[in-house]
Amino acid sequence: MQKEQLDFYKKWFHDYVAGFYADDEYVNANLKLKENHTYSVCSQMAYLADKLNIGDEDRLIAQTIALFHDVGRFEQFAKYGTYNDLKSVNHCQLALDVLRRHGVLNELQERQSRVIKTAIRLHGQKSLPADLDQDAEIFAKLIRDADKIDIYRVVIEAYKQNLVEPDRLKLEIEFPDEPSYSRHIVEAVLRQESLDYSQLRTLNDMKLMQLAWVFDVNFAETLLKIRQHQSLEQIVALLPRTDDINLVARCVFDYVAARLEKNG
Ligand SMILES: [Fe+2]
Repeated sequence: MQKEQLDFYKKWFHDYVAGFYADDEYVNANLKLKENHTYSVCSQMAYLADKLNIGDEDRLIAQTIALFHDVGRFEQFAKYGTYNDLKSVNHCQLALDVLRRHGVLNELQERQSRVIKTAIRLHGQKSLPADLDQDAEIFAKLIRDADKIDIYRVVIEAYKQNLVEPDRLKLEIEFPDEPSYSRHIVEAVLRQESLDYSQLRTLNDMKLMQLAWVFDVNFAETLLKIRQHQSLEQIVALLPRTDDINLVARCVFDYVAARLEKNG
C-alpha cells in the first residue's frame, strides 16, 4: 500500500461525509462530532504506531482503519437519528457495508483488505474473540485503543456540557441522568470486568462502564495518554461522591499504576 492510496482514502472520506450535511443543525452537529472523532482517532493511531514502531506498510493499513472505523456512523445517524446501536444497527457492520457498496477497498491486496475489515468489524465489540486471526490482531488492538483515547475526550465534553447547558447538548444522552447507579455495575468494575451497553440503567452506570474500559486497554502507551489527558479523574469527578465510587476510583487508578509500573 502506498501513501497515495491513503491520501485518496482521506479525500474519499471527506467527500462522502460532506454529502450527509444538510440544514438541520442538530443532525449536522452530530455528524461533525463523528467526523472530528475520526480525525482525532487518526492522530491517536499515528501516536500509537510511532510508539510501537509499526512498519510503514502496516502504518498505512492502521491509518486506513482509523479513517474508516466509524464510516457507518453517518448513514446510521441520517437514517435512525441515533448512535445507539441497540436502537438502530451495528455501526461496525454498517461501516463494512458502506465500504463494500462504494467499492472503497477494491484496489487493495487480499491481506490488506482482510485485516482492515476484521479490525473495523471488531472495533466496537465488548472484547476481542479468542480465535482472532493473528495477522489482524495487532490492528484490532490498535483501533480499539486509539478509539478509547478519543471517546474519553468526546464523552467528557458531553458530560460537562450536560451540566452547564443541557439544552444545547449535541450528543444524545442515552440513559436517565439521575443520581443513582447500579450495584451490579459497581461490583463488575471492582472485579475488573468489561461491561456492555445492555447492562446499563443510568448515566452514572455508563460513566462506570467507561472507567472499566481501562481493563481492556491493550497497550501501556494508551494508558499513558489516558493518564496525560486525566480522563479517568475527570469521569470520577462527574460521579457522585460515595464510598462505592471511591472504591471504584481506587481500583481503576491502582490498575493503571500497576500496569504502567510493569511496563517501566
Ligand atoms: Fe465505532
